[in-house]
Amino acid sequence: MRVLGIETSCDETAASVVAIDGYAAPKILSNIVLSQIEEHAAFGGVVPEIAARAHVEALDGIIEAALADSGTALADIDAIAATAGPGLVGGLIVGLMTAKAIAAAANKPLIAINHLEGHALTARLTDGLDFPYLLLLVSGGHTQIVAVRGVGDYQRWATTIDDALGEAFDKTAKMLGLPYPGGPNVEKAAQAGNASRFAFPRPMKGSAQPDFSFSGLKTAVRQAASAIAPLSDQDVADICASFQAAVADALADRVSRALTRFRETFPGTKNPALVVAGGVAANRTIKIMLERLCAEIGFTFIAPPLKLCTDNAAMIAWAGVERLRAGMAHENGFDLVPRSRWPLDSISAPMVGSGRRGAKA
Ligand code: KG4
Ligand code: ZN
Repeated sequence: MRVLGIETSCDETAASVVAIDGYAAPKILSNIVLSQIEEHAAFGGVVPEIAARAHVEALDGIIEAALADSGTALADIDAIAATAGPGLVGGLIVGLMTAKAIAAAANKPLIAINHLEGHALTARLTDGLDFPYLLLLVSGGHTQIVAVRGVGDYQRWATTIDDALGEAFDKTAKMLGLPYPGGPNVEKAAQAGNASRFAFPRPMKGSAQPDFSFSGLKTAVRQAASAIAPLSDQDVADICASFQAAVADALADRVSRALTRFRETFPGTKNPALVVAGGVAANRTIKIMLERLCAEIGFTFIAPPLKLCTDNAAMIAWAGVERLRAGMAHENGFDLVPRSRWPLDSISAPMVGSGRRGAKA
């Protein structure tokens, strides 16, 4: 079985072919990602109109390249899987309409994929993980803990009540005059910094409510920075290190609660696992904290290769494979419309004020 995946929900134009043959491990036959970072950098963030136009210009070529790289003719593809949400609606329209056109012209089934489901199922593509497991998604637009129980069967246990974690990194960088995207630059600056110089708040730490919050921390960073302005390089490094320490500490509290809850909810799980996804998973301080926490509580820690943690189309193709195998592709069709908001778990109430950027996942 071979599935072509298409991803255009934010600022990456991506296409991939994933194959599965019986019980053998799945194979990523091609995985092409074109980042638009340079187009958006001057604006300090993703500009939806620029993103949509860039997708239109690039997508055909990226799909052609993904097919060529995989050595697969369109006729030999079993289905087309495209991200239908959540994300920036302009990009979603480009991806979904292109997928519909290809599916109609080549007479192939079309599977609409929730971008978050792509992230959620990646560890089954990379590590053959069995259900259930726990997912920590930390990206520029989402900060969620999800119990992954099966294909299409997700329970969101926690989300952010304001900013996403990557967004907090990006905004901190902006305040300190560091370039976009902020996360990697904050991490780099923090290496030379003193993490205990500023006692930033640990949002939600100790709260019985499972969710995340980062806007208060952002405000504390702003106040600390303006109190000692103009900032020297050492000041910036110290703020970054202190910010990162606060984030890791707050995250550890939230995640350890979820690990305990997972044990209580799924007591029969032999090898419980925590999977991390999203761009913030690149952060070493956070990764080391998660590794330590999992070792303490008795979980296997799985961090798929960064290329598959950040936005890509292999995860979308793979979600298509999973849905086809599970006989769930029939839910989708040509009448599908893009959904800029599309919770993975339709039961959890939407969080008021959350995901204002809503673009990324
Ligand atoms: O998953 P991703 O590539 O795109 C989506 O948001 O979907 O994540 C990008 C986010 C940005 O906010 C970026 O600043 C953050 O991940 N990020 C990091 C690091 N690398 C990327 N945050 C902290 N430390 C990093 N090393
Ligand atoms: Zn994403």
